[in-house]
Amino acid sequence: MKGLFAWPRSRPKAPFGAAVTTGDLADVELSLALTRHCEIIAPEYEMKWRELAPSEGAYRWDASDRLVEWAREAGIACRGHTLWWHGSTPDWLTHVSPAVFAAAALAHLEAVMTRYAGRLHSWDVVNEPLAEGDDVFAGLRDTPFSRAFGAGLMREAFRRAAEIDRAGTPLVLNEMGLEYKGPEAGAKRRAMLRLLERERAAGTPIHCLGLQAHLDAADRPIAHKPLRDFLREVAALGVRLMVTELDVSDARCARDLRVRDAEVAAAYREFLDMVLDECEPVAVMTWGLSDKRTWLAEARPRADGAAVRPLPLDRDCRPKAAFRAVTRALRSKGRFRDSSP
Ligand code: G3I
Repeated sequence: MKGLFAWPRSRPKAPFGAAVTTGDLADVELSLALTRHCEIIAPEYEMKWRELAPSEGAYRWDASDRLVEWAREAGIACRGHTLWWHGSTPDWLTHVSPAVFAAAALAHLEAVMTRYAGRLHSWDVVNEPLAEGDDVFAGLRDTPFSRAFGAGLMREAFRRAAEIDRAGTPLVLNEMGLEYKGPEAGAKRRAMLRLLERERAAGTPIHCLGLQAHLDAADRPIAHKPLRDFLREVAALGVRLMVTELDVSDARCARDLRVRDAEVAAAYREFLDMVLDECEPVAVMTWGLSDKRTWLAEARPRADGAAVRPLPLDRDCRPKAAFRAVTRALRSKGRFRDSSP
């Protein structure tokens, strides 16, 4: 049985997967680990707008096609990440008007979804739309997308996506920073709930909320009541949940490997126990599978210069305590509410 070793007794409570690059596929050890442990993959960057269309009017599909085809041949599902994200727009759109940007964004969404319609597990249609706190656009981050579409951003994106991919592929609104403690994350959770309530009432086909879950092992407790309450409120709106980019930074942990690995594993277990207790996630995805390659090496390096260890497998693709924590959480008998719409 594919995914996280053989499941001796029970199917996991949610399919597990990881973000992947074509560079990973060229790494024999890592690609074997991916086929062994993952039921789903997500292109970490090669299906993004800036990578697909670095120059106007010319798409380069080779890398994302390679990932989609590799997954199909390996019997693994592939996610679509991500159609509209302010973090990956082509340079040739930097100085255009909102109207020109809007037309280009809709054309991009149509080009990518038409190419992969019916072939993908789910789509991250809009990524990280919310401001850090409240803003004039009903909580939307000030980006070329919000300046082009205003409060109609979600409606434009998700309705067009549903029109194109008529296979009913789950359409995901993916967001970062909803997991943390403190007033800013609390404001972001409230803005997200307002957005979901408003859009669901307007019939916008947002099927699933993607919780990126870029966590920090030093930021305890990971599973806190405001987050648990938020998960319940999302489920009560009839919106499914997916953990989309899970990793646990050890940048602020002690240097000792055993201590670090134990703290990272505890964070994985605490977070997933809470999520699986509150809902039945569509999937649980980590942002990379092995410490061999993680965006955190550059984004959250350790002050002591030691290699970071945020993912389930170590640099030699051997399971760590984090891997055991993930498998135990996914196999646990936790209670969960059926959050299917
Ligand atoms: O590997 C190529 C290299 O061949 C090339 O020479 C070089 C210069 O173009 O680029 C290298 O690719 C880089 C890639 O990371 C691999 O390191 C891309 O430039 C760089 O843009 C890319 O960054 C990615 C980033 O999103 C922007 O797309 C990160 O890998 C990826 O982890 C990060 O992921 C985001 C999610 O999509 C959304 N949530 C936050 C998350 C972390 O920022």
